[in-house]
Amino acid sequence: MSVVDRADRWEGRRLWPVYRDVFGECGPLPGSGPVDEEWRDQVWDRLRTQPGFRLARAHLDRSLVGFAYGCTSRLPHAHVVGDGQPPLAERFEVVRVGVLPEHRGRGVGAALVRAVTEHLPHEEWVLDAPGDDTDPARGFWSALGWAVVGQGSRAGTVLMGRSTLSPEK
Ligand SMILES: CC(C)(COP(=O)(O)OP(=O)(O)OC[C@H]1O[C@@H](n2cnc3c(N)ncnc32)[C@H](O)[C@@H]1OP(=O)(O)O)[C@@H](O)C(=O)NCCC(=O)NCCS
Repeated sequence: MSVVDRADRWEGRRLWPVYRDVFGECGPLPGSGPVDEEWRDQVWDRLRTQPGFRLARAHLDRSLVGFAYGCTSRLPHAHVVGDGQPPLAERFEVVRVGVLPEHRGRGVGAALVRAVTEHLPHEEWVLDAPGDDTDPARGFWSALGWAVVGQGSRAGTVLMGRSTLSPEK
């Protein structure tokens, strides 16, 4: 597992095959498919230059099997901890987590989320999750102790969050 706070344009080329195999199954990708330059321009270059960017990578036998990345949140504000606590100014947003299908179910996804959120200055972490609570991604985040804390940024999504004050998972 490796974690970096900076990544260059070329890192996108290394991530792309895993990104394509993981998220290609969920629907059309930005750009028109297996053209990594389009994804790199429209997704990767925008994200990697956001404030607070962070990337975690999981390797097996030196090949990339999964990744997680995020940045200081751009999502609508909802307070994660509960009533009676002032909202915090900045939260970390987990933008994507993906593990190659043949490596799932062995704790790689959980380790990636742990790695990408470890030692962050932010006390709250959020993400846009599918609104359908039977979606597999919802099961994954719930298993890691994340909870629905508000409306998502798009129709059909919810805001899920976790706080450093939440019980350890
Ligand atoms: C979601 C994903 C990252 C999980 O990776 P993984 O390596 O299989 O996850 P782990 O093995 O670390 O599982 C961690 C926990 O989540 C649970 N979990 C994992 N996938 C789940 C699913 N589909 N449904 C319900 N729970 C799930 C596991 O049971 C485990 O819980 P436990 O600790 O109580 O046993 C992977 O399935 C994936 O890449 N999916 C496609 C992309 C995606 O949906 N990403 C998330 C939204 S950005």
